[in-house]
Parts: sequence; C-alpha cells; structure tokens
Amino acid sequence: MNVVNPCTCMIMKELNVGLIGHQFMGKAHSNAYHNVAKFFTLKAKPVMKVVCGIGPDVPVFAERWGWKENTQNYKEVVKRDDIHMVDICTPNKLHAEMAIAAAENKKAVLCEKPMAMDAAEAKQMVAAAKKNKVPTLVSFCYRRAPAVTFMKQMIAAGKLGRVYHVRAQYLQDWIMDPKFPRVWRLVKAITGSGAHGDLNAHIVDMARYLVGDIDEVVGMTETFIKQRPLEAPGAGAGLRDKKAGSKTGAVDVDDACAFLARFANGAMGTFEASRFSGGHKNGIFIEVNGSKGSFKFNFEDMNELWYLDLEEDNREQGFKRILVTEPNHPYVGVWWPAGHIIGYEHNFVNMLADFINDGIVGRKPVMPDFADALKTQLVLDAVLKSAEERCWVKVGK
Ligand SMILES: NC(=O)c1ccc[n+]([C@@H]2O[C@H](COP(=O)([O-])OP(=O)(O)OC[C@H]3O[C@@H](n4cnc5c(N)ncnc54)[C@H](O)[C@@H]3O)[C@@H](O)[C@H]2O)c1
Repeated sequence: MNVVNPCTCMIMKELNVGLIGHQFMGKAHSNAYHNVAKFFTLKAKPVMKVVCGIGPDVPVFAERWGWKENTQNYKEVVKRDDIHMVDICTPNKLHAEMAIAAAENKKAVLCEKPMAMDAAEAKQMVAAAKKNKVPTLVSFCYRRAPAVTFMKQMIAAGKLGRVYHVRAQYLQDWIMDPKFPRVWRLVKAITGSGAHGDLNAHIVDMARYLVGDIDEVVGMTETFIKQRPLEAPGAGAGLRDKKAGSKTGAVDVDDACAFLARFANGAMGTFEASRFSGGHKNGIFIEVNGSKGSFKFNFEDMNELWYLDLEEDNREQGFKRILVTEPNHPYVGVWWPAGHIIGYEHNFVNMLADFINDGIVGRKPVMPDFADALKTQLVLDAVLKSAEERCWVKVGK
C-alpha cells in the first residue's frame, strides 16, 4: 500500500473515502465508488473506508454497499488521519459545516448540490478550501452526461456562433398530492429554498457551463400547497416510503420558481423549476440557440443530443438526432460498445473519475469546484431577492 494525504501532492495508489449520507445520494455515490475503478483507469483507487449516516439502518447500508466501517458521527470521519476524501450527501443545511470541517482537516471534498443554503455560506466554504489548499467539487452531475459534455465541446468549438437564447427547465411532479408529507426538502431551515435550490441549481450550473456567467435576473416563486401533514414517525427512508402523520405544518419554500436571465455575453435566458409539473418525473430540458445553429437536450432521453446547423442548405435544414454513444464521444469509450446506452448513475461515475484523476491526484481545478459553484449560488440568491422585491437584481460577486 502506498497511501498518502492528497494534500501533500505525493503520488498515491489508494484514496480512502469517508461518505456522509446513506440514502438517495449516499446510494448513488456508493455505486460510483464501486464502479469507477472497474471502468476508468484511475491514478488512485478509492477505498470505501467509512460511511456515516443517522439511523438504525446505517450498518445494513454499509454491509450492502461494501463500506468497511460505519458511524453516526461525521466529526469522527473528517478528523481521521487515514481518510483522504470526504463526500457530503446530507441535507443542504449541513453542507457548509461538514465541508469546512473536512477542508480544515485537509481532506479533498466532494459536496452535493446545492452547494450551500446561500452565498454567504458558500463563500465560507470557498475560503476554507482556499486556505487549506484542498481539491473540491460540487456534484452537479448532469454536466457529465456525455451528451451535455459533448454539447459544451461543440459550443466551445464555435458550432453555434453567437449565442442568443438559453431555454432551460427542470420539472418534477412528486409533491402534487397535497397529502404528501412535509419532508425536509420543504422546510426552509433545512433546505434553504424549494424547487429553486434543488432544481434550478442544476440548470443554472448547466447553462453557466455551456454559455457563461449570468449578470442579472428577474424571477417569481410560488408555493401552491402552503400547509402539509408532517411526516409520520417511523416512516421509511426513501421518498416513496414517506407517510403523512395527523398533525400539519407550514411549507415555507417555493414549489415552483421561474426567472429570466441576462448572460454576460448578451444572451437571454429563461429558466423554470417546478415540482408541480404533472407527468414530468425528472425532466431536464435545455436548448441553446445561436447565430449558426441550435442544440437541445432532454435528460429523459439522455443519450441523445439534437443539433440544427443553420449553415446547411435551408431546404435540408432541421434538427438532427445525434446518438451520443460513439466511443470517441466524451466518457463513452470506457463504457460499452457504440449504441449501448448509459443511464443516470453513469454521470456520477464519470464525475468521480474526473475528480480523482484531475482534481485529487492531478491537482488541477475540476469544475464546478467551490469557487465556480459559488457563482451558481449567487445567481440562485439573486433570483430569490428579485422574487421578493419584484424587480431585476444584479448577480452578486
Ligand atoms: N446531484 C443530484 O442530482 C442530487 C439528487 C438528489 C439529491 N441531491 C442532493 O444530495 C443531498 C442529499 O439528498 P438525498 O436525496 O440523498 O437526501 P436523503 O434524505 O435521501 O439522505 C440524507 C442523508 O443525510 C444523512 N444525515 C442527515 N443528518 C446527518 C448528520 N447530522 N450526520 C450524518 N448524516 C446525516 C441521513 O442519515 C441520510 O443518509 C442534498 O443536498 C440534495 O440536494 C443531489
């Protein structure tokens, strides 16, 4: 074994990981640790050392996913000398506290999105990472769907010319039933904001990745169901296991949030996030229109990218469907032969491979690192301010 702290810049073969969170994202990230070294050639192999979560099922989770140890105390995890990387998959209000503690203990930090409750917290996370010189990454995993990465490469290569429009939506419908209980994602003190911080966060990140920074915004939010049953005690961990109790409580976050944006390069943006879009389960749509063509992507058909080339003979123009499954498309070569499609979980594996090879071992910033994700958080904050004050708001610095 040749294990060293990633922050010493020495070559290492094994990277000991401490994962915090053992439910939805805990599972998605565990799957990524399991598979990443099997498909990618890594400069350091992740070792699933310890998982931390709250609840009697944590040991069962550890056993099932192959974590060597488990604990309910995250402070133990971040302090351990033998842990090199801390991965945070907990509710939003815990991100800053856990990420700062991990950075102060010189761990590389992977943190779920949204980065923080607000930009003030995000700035503290950036400062802690900078002071301790630790690699960081925020888990905006959809950037690493091959079709999205390929779209970015094509836009950067000038395929669209001058970009005029970005049109982005992230639509779900899982809380439309007014009897669905008030889970933590509906409580401002734990989540920060509702559909906005949860869903707009992803499409703002994606739009910034594809097109660049956003200068100003004007938005609106709505909470359609303002009172919900509280969760019944003892209900299961998964969203589908949630049961309503007899008492009710207020919902103090948005169910939906739409906003307009002006990009620094002059492009116009429209963004919409909703948990009340019947029929949409995890519908992420983005379209970019430029002087030379357009791209569009729909996560429900994530292996496809649609491309319009305005330089073609106008009689032959039309959106063409590119199946992003050729071995020379981004990430695809490590997976299956051409045409054998991939799914949701592959985005996390792709992300982890980049973070380990380029960020932790390569010591290069991997995007979106904390400093980059702060810019997304600043856009989110500006939208909420705009909705409250009913006016355009400049995105802060
Ligand atoms: N990247 C994505 O696409 C994506 C998708 C879903 C969720 N998320 C984000 O991931 C994060 C977690 O969401 P989730 O859906 O996995 O939530 P979840 O409710 O399914 O799991 C939360 C986990 O945090 C643990 N936890 C809570 N308090 C803790 C504490 N004090 N110490 C240690 N562990 C604690 C719980 O035990 C649980 O394992 C959120 O920030 C969410 O926005 C990202």
